Amino acid sequence: MCGIIGITQKNPDNLMEKLYQSLKRLEYRGYDSVGFAVLSQGNSIRISKNKGKVDEVARQTDFSLMKGTTGIGHSRWATHGAPTKENAHPHTDCQGNIAVIHNGIISNFLQLRKELSQKGHIFTSETDTEVVPHLLEDLLKQGKTMKEALFELATILGGAYALVVIYTNEQDTIYCMKKENPLILGITKDESYAASDIPAFLPYTREAVTLRDDELAILQPGKYVIFNVKTKEVVNRKPHRITWTPDAAQKGGFPHFMLKEIHESGQVLRTQLASEIPNIEHIVQAILEADNIITMAAGTAFYASLTTQYLFQQTFGKIVIPTIASEYETVLPIINDNSVVIAVSQSGETIDTIKAVKEAKQKGAKVIAIVNVVGSTITRIADHVVYIQAGPEIGVAATKTYLAQVFAIWRIYHQALIKTNKQTLAQQLQEAIQNVPDEIERIVRNDEAKARDIAKKIQHAQSAFYLGRGINLTTALEGALKLKEISYIHAEAYPAGESKHGPIALIHQNYPIVFIAPNDNTREKIIGNIMEMKARGAYTIGIIEENDQELKQILHQYFEINPKYSKQLQNIPYQIPLHLIAYYTATSKGHDPDYPRNLAKSVTVE
Ligand code: F6R
Repeated sequence: MCGIIGITQKNPDNLMEKLYQSLKRLEYRGYDSVGFAVLSQGNSIRISKNKGKVDEVARQTDFSLMKGTTGIGHSRWATHGAPTKENAHPHTDCQGNIAVIHNGIISNFLQLRKELSQKGHIFTSETDTEVVPHLLEDLLKQGKTMKEALFELATILGGAYALVVIYTNEQDTIYCMKKENPLILGITKDESYAASDIPAFLPYTREAVTLRDDELAILQPGKYVIFNVKTKEVVNRKPHRITWTPDAAQKGGFPHFMLKEIHESGQVLRTQLASEIPNIEHIVQAILEADNIITMAAGTAFYASLTTQYLFQQTFGKIVIPTIASEYETVLPIINDNSVVIAVSQSGETIDTIKAVKEAKQKGAKVIAIVNVVGSTITRIADHVVYIQAGPEIGVAATKTYLAQVFAIWRIYHQALIKTNKQTLAQQLQEAIQNVPDEIERIVRNDEAKARDIAKKIQHAQSAFYLGRGINLTTALEGALKLKEISYIHAEAYPAGESKHGPIALIHQNYPIVFIAPNDNTREKIIGNIMEMKARGAYTIGIIEENDQELKQILHQYFEINPKYSKQLQNIPYQIPLHLIAYYTATSKGHDPDYPRNLAKSVTVE
């Protein structure tokens, strides 16, 4: 969703270049238009904005005319109003003295717009955001300071927002206010930053302060002060040190972030493994004692969360209800103070998941969050946080973070096995956990070329199926989502047994079907499914156990996985070939896998 950067610094020479570079680093969030505003000498605001990519809009902008020490930049993901120059942020008041950028949705904007228009305000866009500068203009006219005006604004605005405001009367100041959408401050001796996500300012500082809901921050070069907008009191919050390195947010020689992130998957799991999960005793106890376990997540994170059901329901007989976060209302009636909610989210900022978790918490549930971004909203709601430690993920389509989420769930399960004295199972799993980072790296190394070949073969397909059974249904679901997201080939995943009950009608000559076929109790049935599909002309690709001669004979193409993972951690190594197939199919078709159309990295609207 929308990318936000605000910078106020002492150096007047490189502000525009830094705003531009920061927006480039936020491109992964997904956007359709771009804008910059700089407070320039002579008390005016200079604005450049248009629809298009950051580079295109930067090319249309004369950086030399936009000199200053304080400025803002925005990449817009259209919600209210088409992607046009007029609707691009920043938006200003009637006099052009206030410039505002925004991520989120102002829910009562229609009413506010009507009232402001009746007072004579002229609107130049269709956006909900534009009410903000006009409201501020009105409040300032009443003699309020900008700080007082923003306190008042917080009582007027409905919905969700991360707002960043500059004002001609205060040349070295940026105002930021947030409710439900993320804003993070970055601080150095001479500079202050406000951004929707850490990579925006990562090359400049690793000292960050996470703004919380209903807070206003006033930034000046090297300084910040935070207020609670309800109490109007100062909030003391020291910066925390970001452990991500600036390199982690660069492509590092790979053509795309997505490929780099697939290659990082093994190392990510190794990093996660290097530290114990804090409070694991309490987490395991809560899960084992709960009446029911509800998972809340969206998209890829939802598929990762399904792992919980296969592990805790099957081994421990716990009732596990995987829930798509936006459908949380269906499970609310069964949530009580003996429920455990496991929220899975890479960003920790997905609005659907935040809402679901808040409601569950109100009903007394204990919340365990499995999250990547430190200090994000969901981590502050949760009772316990398990950080997946995957580093920044820039590719819009999740890859390494999916594996790190699934891995975290397996690690929690491992601790539950130990706690319940299931020693043999625990020992087998322990060995697999230790070795899986190496296996992932082996698969990536060995199978990349094959994935590229298969991609060439399937790139012209209209549609594809991914079929799996048991825990590897998660693998199939995630594989299909990835293919459809970045290659725009329609792909569906089904429990393989279900494929006969309708989907098989679509099969024709060369119809691609990916089967997840480990050597476990699902194997014989999967072979039956492969034969059915092959008999109807399907092009069959299998992810199989190493040296499974029978399957090698039957399938058109196959990837081989070490037997160790046929019964442990299955849905981790079995996923890797599918991430590679999706990546190479997208690139074979000439699509940029890092920025798939219509998608945003962190979905902050309902
Ligand atoms: C797909 C993808 C999305 C996210 C979903 C939830 O590749 O990345 O489906 O998984 O939007 O995002 P988080 O995990 O940030 O809550």
